[in-house]
Parts: sequence; structure tokens; C-alpha cells
Amino acid sequence: MTEILTIIRPDDFHAHFRTGDLLRAVVPLTAAIFGRAVAMPNLRPPVTTTARAKTYREEILAAVPHGVSFEPLMTLYLTDLTDANDLQRGFEEKILSAAKLYPANATTNSEFGISNIKRIYPVLERMQKIGMPVLMHGEVADAVVDIFDREAVFIERVLVPLRRDFPALKIVMEHITTEEAVDYVREEGGKGTLAATVTAHHLHINRNALLAGGVRPHYYCLPIAKREKHRQALIKAATSGEKMFFLGTDSAPHALSAKESSCGCAGCFTSVTAFELYAQIFDEAGKLDKLEAFASINGARFYGLPINQGSAILRKITPRHIKPILTQDAQTIMPFEPPSPLLWEASVSV
Ligand code: DOR
Ligand code: ZN
Repeated sequence: MTEILTIIRPDDFHAHFRTGDLLRAVVPLTAAIFGRAVAMPNLRPPVTTTARAKTYREEILAAVPHGVSFEPLMTLYLTDLTDANDLQRGFEEKILSAAKLYPANATTNSEFGISNIKRIYPVLERMQKIGMPVLMHGEVADAVVDIFDREAVFIERVLVPLRRDFPALKIVMEHITTEEAVDYVREEGGKGTLAATVTAHHLHINRNALLAGGVRPHYYCLPIAKREKHRQALIKAATSGEKMFFLGTDSAPHALSAKESSCGCAGCFTSVTAFELYAQIFDEAGKLDKLEAFASINGARFYGLPINQGSAILRKITPRHIKPILTQDAQTIMPFEPPSPLLWEASVSV
């Protein structure tokens, strides 16, 4: 039985840092473990220009504790008005790493997103040309489509035609939740132009957890957790070590009052123990030997980044209780607690 494991320092290819006091509370948690993290742009207002991405990057860096090495990878929020020249400049000057496509009204702060993908075809054309990845919130926002089917329908209606029109465009299907997504990404991912991130929470919970004995708002996120067979498909994909699947937590902090409400926000806040949550799943699957590929290699390769210096150490421990986080403006944020106790603890040596 493995009790201690050392691997290359991992990256988080999908994180929400927000701004202000909330940002200052959560950035140190991610930076403590991950060498880099892709910072999502769905702020209010969203990060829609390279200039704003630059100031946002500065805000994130200012929150990294002294002596900790950490690099935020910045993203642009695509709208119908995105300026392809600004995006290209941002990418070539290495301020931007990718752009995020939110279908309008699919999730938190997505109202400025894309209502008809054809409208941004010139921008996608440019991204294909310069090799800049587009990160997809892969759900249709069509209220007629059942919430549990929105990812599978997105693949059919949006992703398949898009890949036909832009075969060389680098696409990441973010936070996949279904067997359909796993199968599609596995089938197509060999070409090197399609990959997917998998969150820790979707590896830990299925849709029953949302309603276990009552409504569990801290398990509510988008895309919503699906049936157990889908969770099992995600576990198989993540622990396979295959190059098209990599780590992206989608850690999404919201104030407790916004979660525990008659209309609670979507988002699981996992960054306190994210890497440990993954380790636990890989351990249970008997696949700890594949954690390094998933957490520290596959994503970097897809983005064309060097592998991190330094290592992360995971130790098996007796279960511990995870305490809520308090921000400077006295907001409480509840960290994600998996249904079964957490048995790992991570640290980093650089
Ligand atoms: O659960 C989610 N929370 N899904 C998203 O797509 C957005 C995120 C957030 O920003 O809170
Ligand atoms: Zn997200």
C-alpha cells in the first residue's frame, strides 16, 4: 500500500479566483500546490481585453504569498465583440494563454457569452491560425434541453460541426461530466487538437449526492453532476494517463450566503484540498502511477508549456476535518467535502 508519493509539481488548468478579498483568500490555496493555474475570466465585468487580463494577472500575483512560485495563465472571455487583433497580440506577447467560450447564459456570469457561435467564426479562425486554445463551457443554454443532457447535446450540436469547420483549432472541453464526452474526446484526442479537463468534484460525486437526505447546495455546480455510470467513465478517463485528459479543478468559490439560498449559485470550492481529492480517486482505482501524467504532464504538453520544476509530495493520513475559509470582508466560503473522508495530504518542494 502506497503511503507516500512524490510527483512532478502539478498544474490546475481551470480555476476561478474572482477579485478583491475573495481572490486574496483563495489564490494562496492554489499557489501552495499548483505551479500554474488557468485563471477563468468570468468576472463582473468579464475579462474581455488583453489590457484587462494584464491588470487581472497583477492582482493575482499580488496575492501570491512571498517565497511561493506560481504563474497564473490568463484567459480572455469571448463575446460577440471580441477584437481578434487584440487577442492575437495578447497571445503573442504571452499575456494570454487561451480564450474561454461561454454559451450565453449557460452558467455563472455568462450573460455576455456567445449566443451563436457563427458570429465569432472570424475570431476562431484567427485562433486556429495562431495556435491559441479555445476553452469551452460545453453545455447548450437551451432551456428546453434537460439539464442532465446539455453537455451531450452540446457535443452533437456545437462541437462536432465546429471541429469540422476548424479541424486544426485547439479545443479544451472543460470540466467534462459524461460518458459521451469521455468517448468523444478519447476518439478525437489522438489528433492533438482536442483535450478535456476533469474536476475533482465530478470524480467524487454523482447526482444522488446533490439530494442525499435533503438539498446539498455545496454539491451544486455546472455542468451538474450526472449518474454514477458517468462518474465511473470520468474516473476511467482521468486514471488512464491518456494524453487528452488532464487536471482542471474548476474550483469556484462563492460566499456561503450565496450558496445556501433559495437560488444558490453554481460552483464547488475545491482548492483547499484539490490535489488530495484527485489522489484519493487515483488511489481507490489502484492507479496512483497515472496521477503524474494527469496532473503534471498532459496539460502542459497540450498547452505547449514546459513541465514544472519542483515536486509535490502526497502523504496518507488519518481523516481530517476541513474548516471553512473566512475572507477579510468576513464572508465565509465552504470548502468541498467529499462524501467519504479524505485520506491524503499534499505539500510541495520547489
Ligand atoms: O459551477 C460552476 N461555477 N460552473 C461554472 O461554469 C462557473 C463556475 C463559477 O464561476 O462559479
Ligand atoms: Zn469554471
